[in-house]
Amino acid sequence: MRIILCGFGVVAQSFSELLESRTHDLYSKFGLRPRIVGVFDSKGCAYDETGLDLKKLNKIKKQSGTVRNYDKSIKQISGKEIIENFDADVLIETTASNYKDAEPGMSHIISAMKKKMHVISVNKGPLALAFPSLMELANYNQVMLRFSGTVGGGTPILDYAKNSLRGEKILSFQGILNGTTNYILTNMAEGMSFEDALNDAKSKGYVEADEALDLDGLDAAAKLVILANWIMGMKVTMPDIIKKGIRKVNTNDIKNAEKNGSAVKLIASCDKELTVSPVEIKINDPLCVNGTLNAISFTSEHSGTQTIIGRGAGGTETASSILRDLIDIRKEITKS
Ligand code: HSE
Repeated sequence: MRIILCGFGVVAQSFSELLESRTHDLYSKFGLRPRIVGVFDSKGCAYDETGLDLKKLNKIKKQSGTVRNYDKSIKQISGKEIIENFDADVLIETTASNYKDAEPGMSHIISAMKKKMHVISVNKGPLALAFPSLMELANYNQVMLRFSGTVGGGTPILDYAKNSLRGEKILSFQGILNGTTNYILTNMAEGMSFEDALNDAKSKGYVEADEALDLDGLDAAAKLVILANWIMGMKVTMPDIIKKGIRKVNTNDIKNAEKNGSAVKLIASCDKELTVSPVEIKINDPLCVNGTLNAISFTSEHSGTQTIIGRGAGGTETASSILRDLIDIRKEITKS
């Protein structure tokens, strides 16, 4: 399978390393022989129609901070040109999420689908702003659009609800979908001020480059949009989410919750409305996880409430979700 990789940050590098280390078993177990034919980061690109040498690619990126030094003799072209000029089966979109115009990821995805490439996106921006129309475009072009890694990182939250609960009617769900704010709130419950907890999260590299994405609930809201569309069949986008972040949560709120046997958590909820907001939940509720963990409880008509818990971020974890999507695409292609 020929792949174009958009962006070569932590997740994409982990994915490339994963492919490098799993070459043999991916082929023997799944018949998957992935070849990255083009990759670009913010400083340049590398391409080779016969497939890039992943060991070399990963080494160059680590040494020089960009893929443009992979082969100094190749002409530097834009990501857009790579997508337009190269033939590939799958485009993997890993550039940073933004919720203003979702660019450049939105254009990458649209151009790829128009060229009949399947798309795997771990970039939440395009899906948060245009899920219904991107799905329509995928259907129109008869390509698959997959995005397992956008919610829950490596924890298969979307697959669980869509496939394991198949045939069920999911009535509602609520979850902790942002690890950074959960880490901050957990630290505050242990006595830290909001500022100290935020600085601690920053020092550990958890906080997004634009901290508003975590603190103001945008990241959780984007994940809620994706879940609501994919799991509940709603046709919603970011403006449909009523959201409030954690900036106003103070030590008193945390103490009051404690007195009620509860903790304050940033909860994304799909019930009568779609909301993201700090909410008190009981300490003994399975949803009440600490640190950077994510958790989500689905309430279904016949099988009651089930909670899935796992790490919601991280390079290797999210890379494993890309691999899951790639295996699914390969399976679907070979069926037809
Ligand atoms: N900022 C996100 C989080 C990263 O903290 O959960 C994963 O989407």
